[in-house]
Amino acid sequence: MIVQAVKWVGGVDGYLELVDQRRLPAEFVKLKCRDTEVLFDAIKTLAVRGAPAIGVSAAYGLVLALQKSGVNDRLEKAIESLAEAREYLASSRPTAVNLFWALDRMRRKAEELVAAQPDMTLQALHEALLGEANAIHEEDVDMCRRIGRHGERFITEGAGILTHCNAGALATAGQGTALSPMFEAHEKGKKFSVYADETRPLLQGARLTAWELKQAGIDVAVICDNMAGWLMKQGKINAVITGADRIAANGDAANKIGTYSLSILAREHGVPFYIAAPSSTFDLSIKSGAEIPIEQRAAEEVTTFAGTQTTPAGVNVHNPAFDVTEARDIAAIITENGVIENPDTENIAGCLGPRGT
Ligand code: MRU
Repeated sequence: MIVQAVKWVGGVDGYLELVDQRRLPAEFVKLKCRDTEVLFDAIKTLAVRGAPAIGVSAAYGLVLALQKSGVNDRLEKAIESLAEAREYLASSRPTAVNLFWALDRMRRKAEELVAAQPDMTLQALHEALLGEANAIHEEDVDMCRRIGRHGERFITEGAGILTHCNAGALATAGQGTALSPMFEAHEKGKKFSVYADETRPLLQGARLTAWELKQAGIDVAVICDNMAGWLMKQGKINAVITGADRIAANGDAANKIGTYSLSILAREHGVPFYIAAPSSTFDLSIKSGAEIPIEQRAAEEVTTFAGTQTTPAGVNVHNPAFDVTEARDIAAIITENGVIENPDTENIAGCLGPRGT
């Protein structure tokens, strides 16, 4: 059974329930978010993570924000508080574009509704926004499934597939992006092996991808990040499939730190490198990956391991959370609309349309 990482419980006065990914695989614990502050912290500290899951959660975050408005508040005041909540949640993490995409879609919806019906009640606005967040959620579930169906053909019988970080059900509202073709191939009865990079420093591969695939009964082996090249040299890897946090108009794709190195290793060994991502992960407002903001995270993530200091005190640290893989090293991008082979500005626009949807 596929885990449901993000769930809204109740009506407009309900709450957001997340699987707390900081605690997996040792404990399976749900985290209740009843206000934007708890959600902000959940995004920042990776209780909820993965570009699509962050986007869906943030959409519900604006429903939480409206709960603070009193029934007698004027609509303009509610719109102001939505704008504030949008800015606040948008400042939680900078790289995954799904966060901004979902927040902006919710804000546009609110503005359109109020412009069309200036005398609507706050309750009606609140219900409409919950409806929009639910639509974003449902579309994500559908996008994941379609990515799986389009990408399943890249998993051939007996193949070894390498993946990095976690782009599974935990990272989306549905069955994942990079892992979705694996779930589909498994459902069809194909036999294949997955190598999950452990993904230093926060171990999303070792903790989360291995947990999800093992639960699904898919053959998975965890490897340290520095082992991938040697496995490729030995012919054990037939394809690399990862997710993405933001894809520029030319196909350059930001994903978890370490993905870029994998793409170079894959090119050197003649292994096809695929990105699986929904249209909400494309940012057609930027021409190339050079414009993607890269999140820098706390030094402690590198200097400690499971709470134990592993470096000399006070040593300098670099901790970029993402890197950018160049489009020329991506054999294809698997989207819900189909597969974009040899991605470039022209064929991406051809598949997604000028606005990216
Ligand atoms: O820092 P994280 O764990 O949020 O990074 C996640 C990734 O890099 C994923 O590969 C990406 O968001 C795609 S998830 C479907």
